[in-house]
Amino acid sequence: MICIPITAGSNHEALKDLRLACASADLVELRLDYIDRPDLDSLLRDRPRPVIVTNRAVDQGGMYSGNESSRIDMLKKAIDLGADYIDIEHDCVDKIKDIGATKLIVSYHNFQETPHDIGRIHSGLANSGAHIAKLVTFANRIEDNYRIFEMLENSDFPTISFCMGELGQVSRILSLKYGGIFTFASLDKGKESAPGQLTIDDLTNIYHAREIGKTTAVYGLIGNPVDHSMGHVFHNGVFNKTGVDARYLRFKVDDLGGFIDSVKRFDIKGLSVTIPHKESIIQFIDEVDPVAEQIGAVNTVINDQGRLSGCNTDAPAAVSALEEVMINDAAGDRTEGNDAVSPVCNRNVTIIGAGGAARAIVFGLREKGANITVVNRNHDRARRLVDDAGCDYAAPDRLTEMNTDILINTTSVGMFPHVDESPVPEAVLKEGMVVFDIIYNPRETKLLKIARRKGCTILDGTEMFIKQAVLQSELFTGLRVAGGPGKRAKITPGFA
Ligand code: ATR
Repeated sequence: MICIPITAGSNHEALKDLRLACASADLVELRLDYIDRPDLDSLLRDRPRPVIVTNRAVDQGGMYSGNESSRIDMLKKAIDLGADYIDIEHDCVDKIKDIGATKLIVSYHNFQETPHDIGRIHSGLANSGAHIAKLVTFANRIEDNYRIFEMLENSDFPTISFCMGELGQVSRILSLKYGGIFTFASLDKGKESAPGQLTIDDLTNIYHAREIGKTTAVYGLIGNPVDHSMGHVFHNGVFNKTGVDARYLRFKVDDLGGFIDSVKRFDIKGLSVTIPHKESIIQFIDEVDPVAEQIGAVNTVINDQGRLSGCNTDAPAAVSALEEVMINDAAGDRTEGNDAVSPVCNRNVTIIGAGGAARAIVFGLREKGANITVVNRNHDRARRLVDDAGCDYAAPDRLTEMNTDILINTTSVGMFPHVDESPVPEAVLKEGMVVFDIIYNPRETKLLKIARRKGCTILDGTEMFIKQAVLQSELFTGLRVAGGPGKRAKITPGFA
């Protein structure tokens, strides 16, 4: 079930939001502490959905700054008016004696951390006379979410529990898998009642949260940052269209080793891997496929009952996207029989960057006979790549004098929010060049804008992103998905 908190500032606005929320929520929470002079009679009259009445004081993370007895009196009035639930803080339970037919949610909030003794705190809530325990903490690391899931798994008392904050967002979705009885979603962006809250739109249309249950398999993206990624839209779209009971989440991970323990303990079935973990994840993988091994980077991990295998779908996706744009570009003057030879064969390709994505593209293009030169800020890293792949290196200050046919940016320079940056000076770009930026947010980076203006053929990162995601999706689901390498991405589930 999904509950929408009403965080309007006036009674009039609250009534309006209440009507809107009731159209998409299973229940709503009236945050009296947000409303200036709330009129409970009007707010609770003719309600189409069950209502939780909450009146949180400032020192409990709410907005109510009046005196304590008036705060409690408002809750008592809600009980008299037959509110379906009231939420009362764990250290105030004694202040409410008679609750009539109203159900009691006894809550504990911690805005700093997820304490080590959440099991003990939860027992205290469950034994307080509550009908429902609500235990909400703050996630400082992704593993904190899994401590909440462990607590939920070990309890059969009706409980709402998740972590707040950016790192806690996954628990707002996955707590439903581990037995949490409902989760909260905001009516819209800007109407959140706590940090990390997702919108009802995202929770229902991307994550299909109401259908999440014990058997729902979990997949996800790991990286840092992850908030620019669209993989969750794509993969959840595929799961939804193909009827696979699974969800794909974004995990912002710093401590890779710690997270891998959670992957095994909670049986996360598969992962996409992005910056900065594509290379470092290899040490945690039991079986790396030979191509990924050669590349030295893994972007896909499959967990088969605790045994992790890794591969790389970036290389075929990037090569295929590039070949397609070049073939389309030259469609007019292609001669019969050329199809067997890649359009990148014998072309001078300059790769900007020497990280995991660069390595995948270098090895992929090397197989197609391209003449590759790597340009990177960090000389040693570039050296390692050119030595491994047997290609050339050039210092960044030589870029303008190089004879480049195809320029590929594999760095994050120009990615949202740094949209005014370009990885190369304007003078590098010349008419007739093919310029490929693997960034897809924004679709047209500053580099591509300049390249378009100069008469280059441009390719943004969307096609590569979709192709590598399709290959991952096929590995995750075992199903054929439209839009992979060799099949232009026309059907792209959920991806706008
Ligand atoms: P990925 O696995 O996605 O390729 P990565 O391994 O972190 O990510 O590699 C990022 C690449 O972008 C690196 O080549 C990095 O350059 P360094 O090796 O010199 O660190 C490059 N990069 C990132 N930010 C950059 C910036 N501001 N200027 C130039 N290069 C940058």
